[in-house]
Parts: sequence; structure tokens; C-alpha cells
Amino acid sequence: MDTRFMKRALTLAKRFEGRTSPNPSVGAVIVSGERIVGEGYHRGPGFPHAEVEAIKKVPPTEKKRELYVTLEPCSHRGRTPPCTERIIEAGITRVYIGMKDPNPNVPGEGGGILKQAGIDVEFGILKEEIERFYGPYTTFVTKKVPFVTLKAALTLDGKIATATGDSRWITSEKSRRFVHKERSISDAVLVGAGTVRNDDPRLTVRLVRGRNPRRVILAPNLEVNTDAQVITEGARDVIIAASEQTDKKKAYPFTEKGVDVFFIPERAGRKLEPGALLAELAQRDIMRLLVEGGAKVFTYFLKYDIFDKIILMYAPKILTGSDALGLTVGAGPREIRDAIRLRDIVTKRVGDDFMVEAYPDRGD
Ligand SMILES: NC(=O)c1ccc[n+]([C@@H]2O[C@H](COP(=O)([O-])OP(=O)(O)OC[C@H]3O[C@@H](n4cnc5c(N)ncnc54)[C@H](OP(=O)(O)O)[C@@H]3O)[C@@H](O)[C@H]2O)c1
Repeated sequence: MDTRFMKRALTLAKRFEGRTSPNPSVGAVIVSGERIVGEGYHRGPGFPHAEVEAIKKVPPTEKKRELYVTLEPCSHRGRTPPCTERIIEAGITRVYIGMKDPNPNVPGEGGGILKQAGIDVEFGILKEEIERFYGPYTTFVTKKVPFVTLKAALTLDGKIATATGDSRWITSEKSRRFVHKERSISDAVLVGAGTVRNDDPRLTVRLVRGRNPRRVILAPNLEVNTDAQVITEGARDVIIAASEQTDKKKAYPFTEKGVDVFFIPERAGRKLEPGALLAELAQRDIMRLLVEGGAKVFTYFLKYDIFDKIILMYAPKILTGSDALGLTVGAGPREIRDAIRLRDIVTKRVGDDFMVEAYPDRGD
């Protein structure tokens, strides 16, 4: 076993990261001796699976073959034939698997079937890296909710906008390019009605090549302009989460343009019910959700503990002033022990800015 080959399979899986939803993105490498003789990755629903792509690339003259695949091969007939069959037919003698498929709806057991066919199977190569990579898929298939990433641009004193609401731009173009990349691998980007009214953002992918995510607006009272750029840039890709208490007729100017408006119950404080919100988004096959603000939205996702990852991008600036807008609003806890704890912190320089990536530490 050589982790270099699994690393290569993971690199291949990352090529289509975020573009195979609701399927996971998978990479596979076939090795003969010390050489890679075939490579493949999955391009999305209806396309061949990574293992099959890799097998097809192997020249017929090659004999002893090992397969490195990031996720357990499927053993059921879906839109494509079972990968286990193809692996057995190809004469592969050993299979290294990054992670077991967490999907409870995937019938059968790929690894077990391969073992029964006399193939050596080993699980858990590059375990941590691969489990992290499949975090969104695991969350989506096991909890039936999107994997939520919060992303904010801040000054060093933790401000996301001035007192007048100006936030363009806090961070550098290089950081914004990074954000556009994150958007391109997300199924949807979410903002609050306040950000739409104040900034009129487009929320599309422009600074890198990639597809646009769908755009979700939290607008309980449907108080956003139908001419907002987020809508005019492609109304059919826009989803608005509104409150059940809002007059349904108010949705008409939006639905007429092709916007998908759903109504959900409220919780105390006129907040949309988090469980209902996530369930509605998951029903729309949103596996990766990138939450881009503003302050009230960040407060909601942080306080209700509905996030799986946070990315804070700090610019080398100090805004000063208690009137500027911080990451969150309202009253916070009285004691430090009640702070939201984060783990697995990664810091990166992005030009002159720096980025903190972290995951909630729920003590599990
Ligand atoms: N630096 C950054 O990363 C960044 C990112 C985004 C925005 N910003 C800045 O942030 C400012 C806007 O922030 P903001 O706090 O005023 O507005 P916001 O968080 O974008 O939106 C707040 C509004 O969204 C709706 N909303 C949000 N969460 C809700 C929930 N859980 N349930 C129901 N409704 C909810 C409500 O709409 P209604 O008012 O219609 O009830 C609420 O008033 C702007 O100045 C913008 O430039 C900065």
C-alpha cells in the first residue's frame, strides 16, 4: 500500500468537487507495480463511476493491478452498472478504499462483495483527509441536511461593515477569488434580505472559471426588490425562504419570474425555523450551502448551531468604532465558557489577508 496513490485518487476526486451533487465526487487510480496505469474520476449523475473510467484507461497488456479508490465501490445497479462487477471482471487483485460509503440507502456492500470474490480489500487509507473531503456528502446522506459553511470577510477588529453598511471590499481580490472558487463548488449560496437590500450582490462566480451556485435569500416578509441583481442574473436559480405568516400573494412577483419561494414556520424572535429551512434546502438537492452573511444571518447560524465549517477571511485593516457592524448582533453569553468552540483550525495566508478555517467543536 502506498498513500501516494490514494493522494492521487483524492486529487482526481477534487477535480469535480461540488459538481457531482447529489452524488459524491470520487477518484480512482489503477497501479501495476509502481506505476499508475489508469486514472478516472466521476463527473456526476449518469456518467461512469471513477473506477470504471480508470479500468477503461488500463492498456490490455498490463497484468497485476491494484485499485486505489477514494470511496467504497458501489455494488448496485443504478444509472450505471455496479462497479464491483467491473472490478472483478478486470482481474484486479487488491483494492484500497479511502472510506466506506456512508449512504444508508446504498444497498449491498461493495467491499464485502469484492472480498467474497477473492480480492484483498483494505479500508481507511488517508482516513482523516478523506473523511473531511466527504464531510458534505456524509452530512447530506446521513442527516438529510446540507453541509453548511459560513464565510465572512472581516477587519482585524472583527468588523464586517462600516456603520453605513459599506463592506466593499474588506479583503483583497485574491481572497475574493478564493470565495468565488468556494461558490463554484457549492450547490447554493445564502444571504439575508438585509444584504440584498444593502449591497445588491450578484453572488455569481466571476473571478474564477466555474458554474454559478443557486442563490438562497432569507426574506421572511419577502421584502426584497424583484429587480435585485441576485434575481435578474437568473431568477430560476433563486430560492427565497419566507415566513408562513407572510401573505402568500406577496410571492407572486417573484414566482412569476421563476423564483422558487417556500414558506416555513417561525420560531421566537421572527426567526425562520432552522430544521424546516435545512429540510427544504436538502429537498432541493442542496448538499453544500455557503452562507455569506450578513450579521443577522451569521448570528442565526452560529446561535442555532447550524454550521459545519467556518471560514473567516481577515484583511490587515482595523476599522475602529463600536458603531461598525461586527460578525454577529445582539446579546452574547455572559461567560467565556459559553463561547462557541472551534477545532481543527487551519490558517492560510491569501496575499496580504489571512484565512482561518475551522469546524465546530461539539465535544464529540
Ligand atoms: N463582510 C462580510 O463578509 C459581509 C457579508 C455579507 C454582508 N455584509 C454586510 O452586512 C450588512 C447586512 O447585514 P444585516 O445583518 O443587516 O443583514 P442580513 O443578515 O443580510 O439580513 C438580515 C435580514 O434577513 C432576514 N433574516 C436573516 N436571518 C433570518 C432568520 N433567521 N429568520 C428570518 N429572517 C432572517 C431578515 O429579513 P427582514 O428584514 O426582511 O425581516 C433580516 O432582517 C451589510 O452592510 C453588508 O454589507 C458583510
